[in-house]
Amino acid sequence: MISPLPLEMLIQRSMRIEDVLEVIDIEVRSYDFPWSEKIFLDCMKAGYLCNVAHVGGVLAAYGIISFGAGEAHILNVCVDASYRRKGFGKLLITKLLEIVKTHNVSSVYLEVRPSNLAAIDLYSQIGFSKVGERLKYYPALNGREDAHVLNLTM
Ligand SMILES: CC(C)(COP(=O)(O)OP(=O)(O)OC[C@H]1O[C@@H](n2cnc3c(N)ncnc32)[C@H](O)[C@@H]1OP(=O)(O)O)[C@@H](O)C(=O)NCCC(=O)NCCS
Repeated sequence: MISPLPLEMLIQRSMRIEDVLEVIDIEVRSYDFPWSEKIFLDCMKAGYLCNVAHVGGVLAAYGIISFGAGEAHILNVCVDASYRRKGFGKLLITKLLEIVKTHNVSSVYLEVRPSNLAAIDLYSQIGFSKVGERLKYYPALNGREDAHVLNLTM
């Protein structure tokens, strides 16, 4: 029997260049249209909030958030498949939002695929609500997919 992992095991810190290969490994296994290594490096270079989270010493999750004009934008949040449904995604985002609060931000936005029911459920649990749609925003296996725009007022 697999025992549940205590949430205290999630240790978050800033992403380093040497983390990026492990991050990409999770990224390509998690998305049909994964970010490239360059996108992660550019986010770090731009000074975005780029954090990784370890569980028992293993890099298990990451999150990227940009800031501008009093708003934050969640660009990527991902938990490695074998660590999902254990509360780590929710905890990771909650901890990232605590950091966001220190940036004098009034609103947090993100885009999510309507087909990504896991993420939509997670964000709604945290308090995000849908404020708009972007038509044909994402590449999809059959053409393009719209995005839901979600917002959380801080
Ligand atoms: C979305 C994602 C980050 C969720 O991470 P997670 O660690 O599994 O989430 P949690 O265990 O903290 O779940 C919190 C809540 O989210 C919802 N949720 C998470 N996974 C779900 C799923 N597969 N189906 C339905 N609801 C789900 C549930 O409401 C869950 O609460 P519950 O377990 O009490 O029912 C993870 O599935 C992931 O990394 N997916 C691939 C990348 C991605 O889609 N990122 C989001 C892009 S916007």
